[in-house]
Amino acid sequence: MLNHLPDTTIQVPDKPDTAPPSPAWPSDSYDRVPAWIYSDQAVYTKEQERVFRSSWNYVALSAELPENGSFKRSWVGDAPVVVTRDRDGVVHCVVSRCAHRGVEFVRELRGTLKCLRCPYHQWTYSLDGRLTGVPFRRGVGGKGGMPPDFDASASGLQRLAVTERNGVIFASFASEPPSLELSLGPTMIGYFDRVFNGRPLEILGYSRQRIPCNWKLIFENIKDPYHASTLHVFLVTFGLFRADTPAAVKMDPSGAHSVLISSKRDAVSAAETAELATFRKDLSLNEPELVQPIDEFDDPHTAVMQTIWPNLIVQQQVNTLATRHIVPRGPGQADLLWTFFGYAGEDPVLRRRRLLQANLMGPAGLVSVDDGEVLQQTQDGASAYPEANYLVEMGGRDLADADHMVTEVAIRAFYQHYREVMDL
Ligand SMILES: [Fe+2]
Repeated sequence: MLNHLPDTTIQVPDKPDTAPPSPAWPSDSYDRVPAWIYSDQAVYTKEQERVFRSSWNYVALSAELPENGSFKRSWVGDAPVVVTRDRDGVVHCVVSRCAHRGVEFVRELRGTLKCLRCPYHQWTYSLDGRLTGVPFRRGVGGKGGMPPDFDASASGLQRLAVTERNGVIFASFASEPPSLELSLGPTMIGYFDRVFNGRPLEILGYSRQRIPCNWKLIFENIKDPYHASTLHVFLVTFGLFRADTPAAVKMDPSGAHSVLISSKRDAVSAAETAELATFRKDLSLNEPELVQPIDEFDDPHTAVMQTIWPNLIVQQQVNTLATRHIVPRGPGQADLLWTFFGYAGEDPVLRRRRLLQANLMGPAGLVSVDDGEVLQQTQDGASAYPEANYLVEMGGRDLADADHMVTEVAIRAFYQHYREVMDL
């Protein structure tokens, strides 16, 4: 399940100061998406400001900062940040960029620290970002050093606004962002609190992957219940999802966030699966518990996948729970950072089931391996034919909640909000 990318391969792409204007959107309707938005550098640069730096971004789970002095390396869009818990237990998020020469100085993924220190000239900061140490500040032997009027208090690390809800930490570059609750709205908060219900979380493991596709395609994949029965052999063959599975798609009023819900079926309908090439009657499971849920929520939902603008997917697929953090890495690639979790003190049988079912997910997951592959192919098509327009008409052209899975409405809703934010 664990798949580690060497940290040294992670590079933030150059951002040109000037870029040619992008072409216009194909129409005023939401049933067409132009392919150039997946490969255009100017669009990507604009997204960092308008999509990521203007919103609350998921950066960590509180359980990843278990003690005073804990830190986690994270990202807001492609901008590196570090999340810390200071000696008083207060959580901070500061840029991982030394005030001196701009070094992205936090390279470890997580751990504990007494202070933040840049390796280049050992400038040192407190865990809330104040500059506390400059070597040779007063020179050596009366020579050199910083000018006497150097103002250390004005040279700390840039601090982000931080908010936390039920153990989930968000940060924003905006100076006075609206509350997270206002940003999500009551329907989305309801589904968020279904998983993050206040019970302390326990981290079960991580996986990471770099997908050679634009970050928006990862969101679209999770807003697309249509593909679940057409792409995923495992889901269809072993009965986790079929075309007759009771399903629903819901959005917040802005269209930014959405949730895909599937629930228990009464009986298997052979007719619904017989036509699908993804149904493989020659396959069977040695360990059936891989797909069997243990009831743990007060509803019949076997899967609830929530996408939270602009960088978070909250996954409940049977009993496997995870956050997926999307980190864009230029127009044509993105990192997907998976954090698997359970609840502290839960039943060992349930815990074992969670760990077993985590094999469905992640870079090599029995289900999600298909997504990584097909998203690369989608990007290849978009990059090769930027003049093309994609069809997003399944389920009609409206933006209303749906009570079935044969719809792309959540993708349409996403682009309603995206076009507004991006002024496209
Ligand atoms: Fe999928």
